[in-house]
Formats: sequence, C-alpha cells, structure tokens
Amino acid sequence: MIKIIPSILSADFARLGEQVKAVEQAGVERIQVDVMDGRFVPNITFGPRVIECLRPLTKLAIEAHLMVDRPEDFVGAFARAGADMIIVHQEATPHLHRVVQHIRATGKAPGVAINPATPASAISEILPDVDLVLVMTVNPGFGGQHFIPETLAKIRQVRTMLRERNLSRDIEVDGGIHEGTVRNVVEAGANFLVAGSSIYGDKAGVASAIRRLIEKAGAEPE
Ligand code: DX5
Repeated sequence: MIKIIPSILSADFARLGEQVKAVEQAGVERIQVDVMDGRFVPNITFGPRVIECLRPLTKLAIEAHLMVDRPEDFVGAFARAGADMIIVHQEATPHLHRVVQHIRATGKAPGVAINPATPASAISEILPDVDLVLVMTVNPGFGGQHFIPETLAKIRQVRTMLRERNLSRDIEVDGGIHEGTVRNVVEAGANFLVAGSSIYGDKAGVASAIRRLIEKAGAEPE
C-alpha cells in the first residue's frame, strides 16, 4: 500500500496544530516528525514535547524520525510522548539491535534509517526485527534538498533483500520526494513516501499537493 507521509519539517511551526489537521483532513494516515539534535545532523528541530502537544489533536499515526546521536537515550521519551513508530539511524548507534528491541519493548513500531552513503548491507541483519526501512534520498538535516538519484539502486537492493528473505516490510523514502521523483521511487520498490516541502510549500495548498503526489505515484487515494 503506497502512503504519502507529510513531514512537518516544512510546516509553519507557528501554527503546527492547524498544519497537522490540514493534512489529516486531506486524507493521509500518518505524519513524520523530523527530530534533529545538531550533532548527528547540522540542524536542530524539536523534541518529544512537540509530539506530546500534537498527540491529543490528531488520530494520525506519528513517526518520530530520530536524526540524533545515541537514539537509545531518547526512545523512552518519544514512546511516552505518543509516537507510534520510532525510526533510528543505523549510523547513530553501535547497538542497533538493542535499540530496536527497546523500541519494541515500549510497544512502538521500530524502523531503521540509512543515509545515502550507507550500503544496504549495513542493515541486512536487522531486517527481520524492524517494521520499516527508511532509505534517505537526501543527506539528512534540511527540507527542500535535491533528490539523490543514486539512491534508487539502493531502494531496489533493499526490496530484493526483503523479497529473498520473504520479509514483507515497508520501504520508506525521505528527501526530495515530489511530483518529479515520486514515480521513480515507487517503481524502485518504495511504498511509504515522506514529503515535506512539496506538500507544505505548495501555494495551492496541502490537499491538492497530496492529491497530485498520489496521482503521480500511481497510488489509490487513501
Ligand atoms: C531530512 C528531513 C527531510 C524532510 C523532507 O533532511 O527528514 O528529508 O523530512 O524534506 P523534503 O520533502 O522537503 O525534501
């Protein structure tokens, strides 16, 4: 099932609640909260408190994408704040298996993310333990960047790895996803499509932006 997942990184933070409700009314089922610590990535965004404040406003599933060093230090806080899925970077911890187990133990869904320079083989051992693999299609840290086309081969590689091991997992992509790239990533095997600036930056509004992404992705409206 192909899903469009708005990233709130490009939303208007002065009215974040309204912006989340707007994409919910547009029919999406989940949003991504891009957590950045200024160390793992050269930008700082928000912490668990933002999810805590959004939680009562929306029925959307909330993904906490932890672009942070030592994500193990924050799993409990994001789980308590109300995240439904916690995505950690393979590059951010020496004990990925233990962190994934910890996320599972909190009752949340675990996901693993890999940066553009990280090979798909780096996550082969953890595939059975996660619900989702996030293949970054930009270098993490900022919205509005250009899609890195070389990541298409990695998406195909991850899809092949999953198929060969008979694992049905979601493959998510994040970064530079817009009308010009969405079809390519779906054809490569991605089904969860995170988009920030192409949704919140669209002058025609989030609903038409989401509708056009769905159409271009060749997906059924959610
Ligand atoms: C990492 C961030 C961004 C964001 C989406 O830099 O995680 O990828 O979610 O950014 P856009 O869709 O604006 O490229």
